[in-house]
Amino acid sequence: MNRSFIAIIALLCSLAASARERVCFDSDWKFILGDSAQMASPEYNDAHWRTLNVPHDWAIEGDFYAGNPSGASGGALPGGIGWYRKHFQVSSRATSRDLSTSVEMTEWNPSDLLFLEFDGVYMNSTVYVNGHKVGFRPYGYSSFEYDITPYVHEGENVVAVRVDNSDQPNSRWYSGCGIYRHVWLTKTNPIHIKHWGVYIHDGKVEVDYVNPTNQKVTVKNTLLDATGKVIARANNVSCLMFNVSWSKLHKWSLDAPYIYKVRTQLIAGGKVVDEVETTTGFRDFRFDAKTGFWLNGKNFKINGVCEHHDFGCLGAALSEDALHRKLVKLKAMGVNAIRCSHNPPAPELLNMCDTMGFIVMDESFDMWRRKKTQNDYARFFDEWHERDLTDLVLRDRNHPSILMWSIGNEVLEQWSSADADTLTLEQANLILNAGHDASTLAKDGELSVQSLLTQHLAEIVRRYDTTRPITAGCNEPSPNNHLFKSGAIDIIGFNYHHENVKDVPRNFPGKPFIFSESVSALQSRGYYMMPSDSIYKAPKQWWLPYTDPSFMCSAYDNMHASWSSTHEETWDVVKHNAFVGGQFIWTGFDYIGEPTPYGFPARSSYFGLIDLAGFPKDTYYMYQSEWTDKPMLHLFPHWNWLPGQEIDLWAYYNQADEAELFVNGQSMGVKKKVSSRATSRDLSTSVEMTEGEALMTDGTDALSTEYHVAWRVRFEPGEIKVVTRKNGTPVCTQTIRTAGAPDHIRLSVDYKGKDLTFITAEVVDKDGNLCPWADNQIHFLGNVVATDNGCQTSMERFTAPTRRAFHGKCLVIVRGSGTLAAQSIDLGQASLNF
Ligand code: GAL
Repeated sequence: MNRSFIAIIALLCSLAASARERVCFDSDWKFILGDSAQMASPEYNDAHWRTLNVPHDWAIEGDFYAGNPSGASGGALPGGIGWYRKHFQVSSRATSRDLSTSVEMTEWNPSDLLFLEFDGVYMNSTVYVNGHKVGFRPYGYSSFEYDITPYVHEGENVVAVRVDNSDQPNSRWYSGCGIYRHVWLTKTNPIHIKHWGVYIHDGKVEVDYVNPTNQKVTVKNTLLDATGKVIARANNVSCLMFNVSWSKLHKWSLDAPYIYKVRTQLIAGGKVVDEVETTTGFRDFRFDAKTGFWLNGKNFKINGVCEHHDFGCLGAALSEDALHRKLVKLKAMGVNAIRCSHNPPAPELLNMCDTMGFIVMDESFDMWRRKKTQNDYARFFDEWHERDLTDLVLRDRNHPSILMWSIGNEVLEQWSSADADTLTLEQANLILNAGHDASTLAKDGELSVQSLLTQHLAEIVRRYDTTRPITAGCNEPSPNNHLFKSGAIDIIGFNYHHENVKDVPRNFPGKPFIFSESVSALQSRGYYMMPSDSIYKAPKQWWLPYTDPSFMCSAYDNMHASWSSTHEETWDVVKHNAFVGGQFIWTGFDYIGEPTPYGFPARSSYFGLIDLAGFPKDTYYMYQSEWTDKPMLHLFPHWNWLPGQEIDLWAYYNQADEAELFVNGQSMGVKKKVSSRATSRDLSTSVEMTEGEALMTDGTDALSTEYHVAWRVRFEPGEIKVVTRKNGTPVCTQTIRTAGAPDHIRLSVDYKGKDLTFITAEVVDKDGNLCPWADNQIHFLGNVVATDNGCQTSMERFTAPTRRAFHGKCLVIVRGSGTLAAQSIDLGQASLNF
């Protein structure tokens, strides 16, 4: 039997077995940036509109401009109103295929139901089918589905979507604009499993289904292992207990994230009328007030990062390749958890976390009733919060990776009076961490309106899932914070305030604790402020401006915002306090918007451990040395300075007990990491620097800590080399040479995805050494989708095929396969096949 014949038989069997079909509805949309009520009409002539595939983000295609109402905090990119339209065919003839839209569906019976599902549209979307309004959804991060059956007819149909992101600012970071996640079309039998109607928990499957004609329906659930082998079956009722012993199940863990599948079938009149497959995993976890976090009997730290949803120069438009690249880089650093800050993520993120082994904190809102920016979700909160929170839990509750729900981030309801909305967007971003008067906290015995609201939101979550604890990102550490006072928060989550952690066991007896958000250090890749043992606070206080003509922040771990800390300081608290379950560092990757401590022309963040282009900053390797076991060494900075200049050289390493530095072959001494207890960096008195002021610690040894070693040496051109050793045996060696004049471009593949390839362009000297000061403009020829260099002030359009190198590097993203050429004046041309 030939293979295609087998495939056809398999297809026919599966069609006979199930009436449900779900097709991707992403391709061939028409788009225009503009607005008219006529655009909803099926007769409207959209022939001149641009044709594109979603996910799409129109804002990323725009220019950075100080006057854009999103402000620098929103990335200084445009908003506006846009329309999308898609024509599609519905035919009751067997196996119809609409070539123009490439939507493929089998026979459509008039009794079938059709659902249109959007994973996310930012924001204020109104959907019309053949001119009929089918729904409005304000929250740009919620996934939603409409039953479009009543409005669809045989032949050509038109779906039109109006997206309104004109009322800005409505976000404290870059949101993107448009249908920026996938769209799906689903056909079902009238008897069907409801959207998100399967809930797997505690060995049971609950199935919520629709049976309009009250026929006799049998629910059949089958548990399949990762190879597709049937492990257990359970029939006849909608709440079933699989008869499998817990010890026989493969556990879902970070190293071996084992995924099972539950196949749910509805059987009526002897036929399978609906079938849904749900992935799931089995694990046992708990948060303990004394010992922190446990997964499957193992106690370890949650080493997490917070992430916004954008993909740098690709904007908010979901790309599985960009997402996977992010997670691969984070995994290599040792990250084991992601906080979806501060909103429901794309479903694909959760799927990848399930299969790659990341813990997830799934978060709902950045604000409740009190707004942080003029036009944000607070204006919709009263009407929509129940729906949005419910949908988040229903959509996500089967993911094994999600181990906690967060009902909010730094909501202003922590205090009884707080008014960020009277401030500018930049100030609103900063005030979140300003101190609040004790009079704004809960009084003894009081259950305030804010506490009641906290209880209400927690109750909504528990209505749909009782298997995970609830937390919230709180930047008010007092137990009189109205959220804590509600008693509804299972895990005390602090944003920052590492200096208050010692009081947690006393203030919150019996409650587990994590840093829901931490650090907020500020760094630009490749930029170093010396002396490196000075701490630069920027801004010194949240209300003070911070200006520095460089628009740069220091990539030594020695610069942070007034409310935050260095990476080493917070990690030290997490590492050395058993009750601290872990942390979620702000942030893994830089993101567009919130360029604290600067304003325009800075337009993207300095907080990331990895820059916006995806190149790690140096501190990435500090975590790698602490969080991973593979022997590593990272020496920095580069070795291109002025003769005689005093330079601090740092090294992060692991699996070794000492490191020795050589400058042009001459030893600069052997260094060992020193315990933080011995150096006793007093966290409570971290130095408050005035701008430009630096505090020097005398003596080279004081430069080293428990997490890095450092040498202060005079620059002389040539070569620096570090060797690490364990019991005298070399473990790792790294050499950096002084680069000569920029000579040519070197192209290399950073990440190859299914659709997109991420290519690094480096400016190097004739011997191939990276030129760390090079900022040559590089022009790319090929199927270029976007470019970036990680510089927070780069004003080049993200979609332009031209980009300046930043500290010697830039990134180009290309589609498909082919050849990429890179040209620059004086550097000639380089090319790469991908
Ligand atoms: C926190 C906030 C984050 C981000 C961060 C910057 O207050 O939760 O969204 O603004 O500060 O330090």
